Amino acid sequence: MSVRSRFEAEFDEWADTYDQTVATGSDVFQGYDDVLDAVAAEVVASDGAAVVDLGAGTGNLSARLVRRNLRVTAVEPSLAMRHALRRKLPEVEVLAGTCQHLPEGLPPLEAIASTFAFHHVSPAMRRRSLARLAEALLPQGHLIIADIAFAGPQLRRRIFGELARRDRHDLLGNLRVEFYPTVDVLLAAMHDVGLQARARQLTPWVWLFTAKRGPLDLGISTPVPRPIHGLRAQGEAESLAD
Ligand SMILES: C[S@@+](CC[C@H](N)C(=O)[O-])C[C@H]1O[C@@H](n2cnc3c(N)ncnc32)[C@H](O)[C@@H]1O
Repeated sequence: MSVRSRFEAEFDEWADTYDQTVATGSDVFQGYDDVLDAVAAEVVASDGAAVVDLGAGTGNLSARLVRRNLRVTAVEPSLAMRHALRRKLPEVEVLAGTCQHLPEGLPPLEAIASTFAFHHVSPAMRRRSLARLAEALLPQGHLIIADIAFAGPQLRRRIFGELARRDRHDLLGNLRVEFYPTVDVLLAAMHDVGLQARARQLTPWVWLFTAKRGPLDLGISTPVPRPIHGLRAQGEAESLAD
């Protein structure tokens, strides 16, 4: 079973400076700390419950989950990121794995939480990956994903057009290579594998998807976006590349 990610070399190289990048809060990392706080707050689990931080990077979400007294396993494909995480959080178990291939031997999980990582799963693998994540959860378990997503295809086209006009080919290239879904597509994939899911917007770029195992429900729920205070809504595409 492969636990390798096609993006591994890029993240190995980025590991030492990743925390500096997110601290700038630029582009997709606007409101980074608030996003991670929002995800940690969504984790409904009792003290000592087993949870996974999936695509954990340098462990910034893991740190928040540890502070909640949870038993955190950080799952991360990049070796250099795993080293950075171990240096930061020696008490956290760190394992190689991906959204598509969780490591063997995890206990049944109260929650799987993931920030800025699920977009590495290709559309072809999305449902299979979600189904496996759902299987790894306890019956009352939750899947919480915060990631870059687009409210719809038209808005995505507008944003891409705006970035091209602003010569932001660096960001545009990244957005084109990785697999950023529209909100309804990711919600539908979650529903298809038997997860009850909801989404709300956290920043101009990031949506929070919360899902739990439950009866099949094909209704798509996208409540009115509630951006974090001080951040503009994604609909304001012209302001995104400032
Ligand atoms: C932008 S970083 C986010 C790290 C961390 N979760 C955070 O919020 O700062 C994306 C992380 O996802 C990891 N990754 C890449 N492909 C992945 C996959 N298929 N499944 C899980 N994680 C993956 C990368 O190695 C990297 O550490």
